[in-house]
Amino acid sequence: MFNKLSLKIGLLFFVFILIIEAFLFSTLYFTLVDERVEEVMENLLARGDTHSEVLEDSFEEMTLEHVGMMEAATDFIAVITDETGEILVNSDDLEPEMLTVLKHTDFAEMPIYSKIVEKDWQKKRYIATDSPITIHDEHAGHVFMFAPTKDIKRIVDHLKNQFLLVGIITVVLTIVTILLLSRIITLPLIRMKEATEQLSQGDNQVNLTSDRNDELGELANAITKLSTDLDRLKNARNEFLSSISHELRTPLTYIKGYADILDRSDTTEREREEYMGIIREEAAHLTVLVGNLFELAKLDRNQFTIQKQDVSIVELLTSVAVLVKPAFDDQEIELSVNCEEDVPASIDPERIQQVLLNILDNARKHSFAGGRVTIECRQEAGNITICITDEGQGIPEEELPFVFDRLYRVEKSRSRERGGSGLGLAIAKEIVESHGGQIWMDSQFGEGTAVTVQLKRGVDHS
Ligand SMILES: Nc1ncnc2c1ncn2[C@@H]1O[C@H](COP(=O)(O)OP(=O)(O)OP(=O)(O)O)[C@@H](O)[C@H]1O
Ligand SMILES: [Mg+2]
Repeated sequence: MFNKLSLKIGLLFFVFILIIEAFLFSTLYFTLVDERVEEVMENLLARGDTHSEVLEDSFEEMTLEHVGMMEAATDFIAVITDETGEILVNSDDLEPEMLTVLKHTDFAEMPIYSKIVEKDWQKKRYIATDSPITIHDEHAGHVFMFAPTKDIKRIVDHLKNQFLLVGIITVVLTIVTILLLSRIITLPLIRMKEATEQLSQGDNQVNLTSDRNDELGELANAITKLSTDLDRLKNARNEFLSSISHELRTPLTYIKGYADILDRSDTTEREREEYMGIIREEAAHLTVLVGNLFELAKLDRNQFTIQKQDVSIVELLTSVAVLVKPAFDDQEIELSVNCEEDVPASIDPERIQQVLLNILDNARKHSFAGGRVTIECRQEAGNITICITDEGQGIPEEELPFVFDRLYRVEKSRSRERGGSGLGLAIAKEIVESHGGQIWMDSQFGEGTAVTVQLKRGVDHS
């Protein structure tokens, strides 16, 4: 499978690498060709110079012939002229191209240095050099050397073939490398895409965990984490829904059952009143439950605003204590507020009052007559800690981690006098956390419970 991204990455790499390779190869090629041609030319010039030096020592018939004979056996052609351009010796037959070179030489001038007189190896059949013969400062003649360009062309052709071969191998290797690379890069992406598609189709069991510690590895791990979170959320939602339907069904069953009994003709007036009372109570319970659920839904969607202000913590605690006092008195439970110093807290007073009311309500519901509940507050660094302690029944250790879960109650049977819905602490936790604070619970089964709320300190204006 060759998807679009790998094609794009591959093509991009390929074009770039091809441009770089083409540039490097051509530079190398032209440098090598130039060097080779230069070498051949220098050789030819040196050869001509050697002959001219020999002739400068002895400019005689025998030496001339000797030079001619020597070059007849080689690929080079030597032409020796006198100072006017008259040919004295030529080692091979002369071709028109060579005569053209001689014709174009200015014999009137007196040359001192040897030079290359024909270097167009690409178009001409011969390259040529001219080494002057100077005897006792007098110009005596020229040694013209010709070398066939076919040798140079052969060398260059050979070089060209080698470069072509290496070039093809490089391009093939580049393509293979790029194909492999783009696959290595895109394969995890393809797997992640498939995994997210799987997620959106409702299958949360994706496992992409990889050992890579680069960005792709991080992304894969993030997707895996997302899938487990999603799975957990789904399970929590299912559990929540089934608890809710259970919570709603119980009071509705009561209401329906008692309403049916009311209909019967043999119910006495006293029974009627009692059953009506139960129906009213259950309806009220349902109203509270639905109200709490609605509140939680708003908290979940962040559709509530916290209006923080600096509030005197002692005033807040005292007013809450006044509110709940009658209920505590009824159950003969002592309630005391104990604050070392008054400090301002940066909170939404109504929301925090709601939290405290629920904690105190729990403490009262689970305390025994004659027991004591204390509200304490302390200040540490930038935090304010409120601790509500009771001497009630406590919570078994294994239940403690779940008390902040929605609809969680320690007593599973819904007794009507203690019957909460199990939402109070869940709401309290949401509210405290949205204040940037923390809430936790310590409890000893049979001895009592302490709930601690930690909030940020406000600014003291006094
Ligand atoms: N002080 C406490 N002592 C003993 N158990 C407690 C205490 N506070 C809470 N619990 C246990 O934790 C459970 C959850 O408390 P939470 O306030 O969330 O729900 P609730 O009081 O049952 O119902 P709601 O507050 O919605 O009316 C309670 O049902 C109770 O079993
Ligand atoms: Mg409660």
